[in-house]
Amino acid sequence: MVKNRLLDNLVHQVEAAGFCFASGEYIHEWLQSQRPDALADWAQFAASWNDMPLDRYMADGGRYRRRRYATLSAGETPDSIRMEPHQPHYQSLEYNALNGGVAREFEPILNEVVNGNTMTSILRFCHQIFNHLQPCPRWHIELHQFRIEAGNQLAGKPTPEGVHRDGVDFVLVMLVQRVNIASGTTTMHDLAQRTLDSFTLTAPLDTAIVNDHRCMHGVTPVEQIDPDQPAYRDVLVATFTRRQP
Ligand SMILES: [Fe+2]
Repeated sequence: MVKNRLLDNLVHQVEAAGFCFASGEYIHEWLQSQRPDALADWAQFAASWNDMPLDRYMADGGRYRRRRYATLSAGETPDSIRMEPHQPHYQSLEYNALNGGVAREFEPILNEVVNGNTMTSILRFCHQIFNHLQPCPRWHIELHQFRIEAGNQLAGKPTPEGVHRDGVDFVLVMLVQRVNIASGTTTMHDLAQRTLDSFTLTAPLDTAIVNDHRCMHGVTPVEQIDPDQPAYRDVLVATFTRRQP
């Protein structure tokens, strides 16, 4: 049940358009209204993007994406969110023509990150929105930490597969931080790939919320600004998919 106007507002936007942008300030206010210490471990949460392994499944040969992955499940209430045993990530070629069609093994997101205040609060936020949009007794949840790096005059591609669906029911894309990069603009599209909107996640907690059945999405490449400094974009992606009970 949606208990307050902040969440209600986001739900209505996604119902109307199939997606919405929510500012970091907006998300921050909602998270803290639920739990004053919702972001108490933000520094550790953000730092956990620092030592991630390279994604070696990139069919374009790219070595610019680092990631970790976790799987969870939930019932009808946010209290029921649970971690599931670590498992490979699978997308069909239908949804990921570049890297889909194989089970990809990624290192797990660290337990203390998944179970920390920040991640727990964000997952509860997702659950409240998505379960209101489409109530379901059994959710399959996938969490992805992504770092896209740019450097040596090479742009990093946040969505190397191009404009796409994730092949789930709902998607949350939340910025953790941008360091020394330009561009990286999120684009929203209808199912015929016509552009509906574009916006750039620039501040921590800036978020895109997407109904994956109604909209496709993409992100433009990120470019290094100062060639002598590291350049990267860190995001959290959480997807929710309804399972048969
Ligand atoms: Fe995606």
